Formats: sequence, C-alpha cells, structure tokens
Amino acid sequence: MSLKNKKILIVIGGGISAYKALDLIRLLKKNNVNIKTILTKSGKEFVTPLSVTTLTKNKTFEDIFDKNSEAEIDHISLSRWADLIVVLPTTANFMTKLSIGKAEDLATTVLLASDKDILLVPAMNVRMWLHKATQNNFRILQDYGYIFIGPEKGEMACGEYGEGKMSSPRQIYSYIKDYFDKKNLVIKKKFKALVTTGPTREYLDPVRYISNESSGKQGYEVALALRKLGIETKLISGPSNLIPFKDLKIKNIVSAKEMMCEVKKSLPVDIAVCTAAVSDFKPIYKSKNKIKKTDNRMNSIKFEKNPDILEFLCKSNKDRPKIVVGFCAETEKVIQNAKVKLREKYCDLIVANNVSNKNLGFNSDFNKVSIIDQTGKVISIPKNKKSYIANKIANIILDKLLINDKSIN
Ligand code: PMT
Repeated sequence: MSLKNKKILIVIGGGISAYKALDLIRLLKKNNVNIKTILTKSGKEFVTPLSVTTLTKNKTFEDIFDKNSEAEIDHISLSRWADLIVVLPTTANFMTKLSIGKAEDLATTVLLASDKDILLVPAMNVRMWLHKATQNNFRILQDYGYIFIGPEKGEMACGEYGEGKMSSPRQIYSYIKDYFDKKNLVIKKKFKALVTTGPTREYLDPVRYISNESSGKQGYEVALALRKLGIETKLISGPSNLIPFKDLKIKNIVSAKEMMCEVKKSLPVDIAVCTAAVSDFKPIYKSKNKIKKTDNRMNSIKFEKNPDILEFLCKSNKDRPKIVVGFCAETEKVIQNAKVKLREKYCDLIVANNVSNKNLGFNSDFNKVSIIDQTGKVISIPKNKKSYIANKIANIILDKLLINDKSIN
C-alpha cells in the first residue's frame, strides 16, 4: 500500500507518447494516488484537458496566468503540494529549457521552483536523443538531480529504430512504486549514517602541518545524497572551505585523532562512509613553539602511524555499522590496490579513484570511480560531477542495506 494517498504531479509534454500519460494516470488512480496535472501548450495538441480531468478527477492546469486559479493555486503551491513530480513525455526541447533554467510557462516555472524529486521520462527520435546537445543536457540535468526513466531502445512512431522510445506506463509505474517503497522503508527504519571527509592536519609546530589536497567535496556530496534519501546523516569534516549545507549535521575536526574520537562518539550508525583523506602518519613530537630556521631538529622529523578509522569501524565487534564503505585514492594499479584494501580492512564496498589526473579526484568538481564489492564485482562510473557520483553511491548503499535488512528479518 506504499502508493496510497501519495500526491503526484504529472506534467504532460508535447509528443506523440503523450497519450500514454493517460494509461499511467489510470494505473496510479487504481492504487489510490492523488494526481494533479499540468498540460503544456504542445501537450494539448495530443491529449485534451477534458480527458485528463476525467481520469484524475482534478482540474488540469494549463496556463501560468490562469485567471481562475493562479490566485489560489500558484506555481509554488503546486510544486509544494506534490510528493513527487513526473514529466512525460520529456521532449528534447523541454530538456533544453530545464538545463538552462528557463521558466517560460506554468510547467517550467513549477519545476524550477520545486524542492521535490522530479522524474523525467524522455521520448524522442533516436538521432535527437543521441545528438551531442541532448546528451550534454542529459548530463547537466542528472547533475541537477533530475532522475531519468529510460529512454528505451525500440521502434519509434516515426518508423526508425533505436534509443529514444519512451518507457511504458507499466515501467514508469513500477519505478514510482519502488521509489515510494524505498522511501517508506527508510522512514520506518530510521537509518543513521556517518560520513568522514576532507583532509586531516598533523601539526609539527603551532603553524606548520602535514596534510593533503582533499577539499572535502566528495564527502559533502555523499552526505547530502544520503540525507536526500531520508537517512539521518552526520558529516565529520577535516578543514575545508565548503559552505555547510543546511539540514546536515556537521562536526569539524582537525587531526586524525580528533576524527577518530568524533567517529566513536557518533556510533551506533547503520552506514559509515569514509571519504576522508586521513593522514597515515603524524609527527611523534609537536613543538610547543614555532620551529626556528636554525633548529637542527628539522633535519629529522620522526613519524608514527595514525589510527585507521575505516579499519576500526570495519573490525569493531560491538558497534560495527551494517554497511561500511571505504574510499581509496590510488595513482597506479587502481582496481588491484583497491581490492587489497577492501580485503585487508574488511569493508563492504570500496570506491576506488585514480588521483594521478589533476582534473579528477582531489580538489576537483569531477571524479571517476569504480565501486567494488566483496565478491569482486566492479561497477564503473565514468567521469561526472561529484554530486552525480555521490547519488549513485548513496543509492547502491541503500539498496545493499535494504537487501541485508530483508535477509536478517
Ligand atoms: O575531498 P575531495 O577533494 O573531494 O577529494 C576526494 C578524494 C579523492 C579525497 C576521495 O574521493 C578519496 O579518494 N578519499 C580517500 C582518500 C584516502 O585517503 O585513500 P587511502 O587509500 O589512503 O585510504 C583508504 C581508506 O582508509 C579511506 O576510506 C580513508 O578514509 C581510510 N583511512 C585511511 C587512513 C586512516 N588513518 N584512516 C582511515 O580511515
């Protein structure tokens, strides 16, 4: 009964597949979903407001300047009303408008003003879909957080064959059902997560330290993505210039020792993700005063090992999180080295990134990762924004957690 009383706003775009929106509405109504619709100007060329209203039993919204309704249901309240927004069919033209943040009619204005998850269901000719401009928009929209269903491969209305066919109403319905099933379960289980991020600083004297180039971006994005899935998340961050996100608990630390302390305080949690670039070593001795140029001690700094936080989490008997994810920064034999770390540290998943390329990994907005599980299975995510990669990782973690949870109960 996960769909009962859910509120879905459906935007019907202008394309031959618009008629399939009626089938989707019928399927959702059968499951007691409350539906409101916006029919775009070109969508109206394919389906009529009367047929939509007859099925939804609600007014069909069309115009941003609708004299009868704008005062009462403006674009803001329409988007706030919904639990989820679905756009079908999503045309190439509509994708372009969304990718540049255009707000020229009711549909685009509602989407720009929305704080909800938005599912886009593309439908277009194969050449249009594969065109560099559309593919570029596809990447931009994924980075903005839009969720895509399809397109599928198949025969199109124009007679051509290829990728661009809209997913069927059944496929869209299944996706929506899974989406709410997951949301309901996360709320019921009250999952908690901790994420470590950023560098640590190990001081030699009051003003000098050993550290690295981690900016904390990847970990911030992972924490945000987990939070977006409804998981209560605490971010434990080394020194970073990032502006804290609202709704995210953040604890700032400086050294590996402090990070370890904060991690211990945060237990128990269901999920731990260690994206931090923790300094492996720290100077044994920290000078009380600034070391002088003339001081011979600088010729020989002695180091000792820092505690390994990831290993502590994985091997702790009492409070081991159900899923522990390590990250691993390598400059050579990336997958091979990552597999060794996964095995030696006993983590459930390890996310390997090659940090030899200056434009990826450390202190970049982009990353390219491979996620490896204990069976040795590798999921590779090509170069993309760290936010996109974080969403993928968060969803993989949640799916794994839910599978584990099911097998225990
Ligand atoms: O912060 P950004 O600029 O966004 O860059 C992101 C990143 C490149 C730092 C990130 O994607 C990444 O790769 N993080 C792991 C960096 C790292 O320290 O890798 P490692 O292979 O040395 O460590 C392996 C794992 O052990 C990591 O999960 C690390 O957090 C953990 N570790 C290491 C040492 C230690 N003392 N304690 C730990 O918990």
